[in-house]
Amino acid sequence: MESEGRNGKKLILVPGPFQGHLTPMLQLATILNPDSSAHPNFTFLCIPDGLSEEEVRNPDLMGIVLRLNVNCESSFRECLTRGTNHMEPVDKICCIIYDAFVYFSEAVVRDLKIPSIALHTSSAATTIVRPILLQLKAQGHIPIPDSMLQALVPLHRPLRFKDLPLSNFGSLDYFLELVVLVSNIRSSSAIIFNMIHCLEESPLAQLHQQFQVPIFAIGPLHKLAPTSAVSLLQEDTGCISWLDKQTHNSVIYVSLGSIAHLDQDQLSEMAWGLANSKQPFLWVIRPGSIPGSEWIESMDEEFKECVKDRACIVKWAPQKKVLAHDAVGGFWSHCGWNSTLESIGEGVPIICQPCFGDQNVNARYLTHEWKVGLELEGEIERGTVERAVRTLMKEKEGEEMRQRVLDLKHKVEVSIGDGGYSSHYLSELVELLTSF
Ligand code: UDX
Repeated sequence: MESEGRNGKKLILVPGPFQGHLTPMLQLATILNPDSSAHPNFTFLCIPDGLSEEEVRNPDLMGIVLRLNVNCESSFRECLTRGTNHMEPVDKICCIIYDAFVYFSEAVVRDLKIPSIALHTSSAATTIVRPILLQLKAQGHIPIPDSMLQALVPLHRPLRFKDLPLSNFGSLDYFLELVVLVSNIRSSSAIIFNMIHCLEESPLAQLHQQFQVPIFAIGPLHKLAPTSAVSLLQEDTGCISWLDKQTHNSVIYVSLGSIAHLDQDQLSEMAWGLANSKQPFLWVIRPGSIPGSEWIESMDEEFKECVKDRACIVKWAPQKKVLAHDAVGGFWSHCGWNSTLESIGEGVPIICQPCFGDQNVNARYLTHEWKVGLELEGEIERGTVERAVRTLMKEKEGEEMRQRVLDLKHKVEVSIGDGGYSSHYLSELVELLTSF
């Protein structure tokens, strides 16, 4: 993606090809666009990934990311050096900003002597603990032994070893290889984080020690670029009309993000837990996220009948609008970093059900550091779900979390306002970009 600045020089942004990565990069592009009312200065270019259909369907996501980085390097190099109808000569490019997961771009621009900046789309806390996984591997502690799981990670409270950002997609070796490649910033001039200073002051201080380049903590990006439209799936806006008919803070919004899958048993336990809670709910079930089903055709008819007057089930929702809606009083989430920031940004407390990777870190921070989330641990079971929903939506403990998250929402507003930390870091980033 190219964007033209006032000095006629181009900025190139290379996003990761997943919803949770594409979203913050497009938001950043919107913020940096000198004409923020539309996208007239953007050019979108495709870099062939060279992956076969069989490779794309492979559940080993980490293997795919590694291969994609190998495959894209030469096509990106060709794109920059040979030029296309759209691409300007290399000396007209001021900088490339790349997602740390698509590090192939940095290797190309290093050779071409173009400055680069990495964008990390997960939290500061996740980034500082990733190298611990490599130490554990060297000590023979991966997979993490059961006896260590509940212990606190030294110097990284409140994280336990079980909260470390391990992936459960395919080969562990691929995953650890990716950790090394993503954590190494090579020749980049700076790093951008989609984060909020007041939420992660201590991890941010540690990042400054870990990396010897400027770090820009600019977030939450979705609040700085509220108009940016970024969904890969079509949003069902009908759920907003449904929310309009519900009462203040009565609805629990349920979504496990863009990647996680559920099996039939988990689906059924979630469904009956929600039904038994007697609370109205808006539930996003992505087509294809339940193996063996196209969508919800396999769901119990008795359940559908039981909740028909207080449930809305959609394939994909306009999540930011949903969280901002007056009727939404809680979010049952997988705690992806974007969802975490979006929920805090709207003052909505969370039931935390992390599925893998950085979601474990985010969930632990939500429940034990910021204290705005309720942990749903272990196997999903209808009784636990029912209790968690009631606690969040009806009880004093949930109300206290709501008050705390509303305080955080206020702090977020201060951070993105004039003189706030995010505004300050954003000005510094713009200064650096114009110096190239
Ligand atoms: C993935 C990883 O799961 C996550 O841990 C990592 O931080 C980023 O990449 P994903 O599952 O996509 O994330 O979750 P998340 O980071 O929360 O991003 C999901 C995005 O999709 C959010 O911006 C959310 O607003 C959007 N969304 C989700 C919708 O717009 N509609 C929906 O119905 C569901």
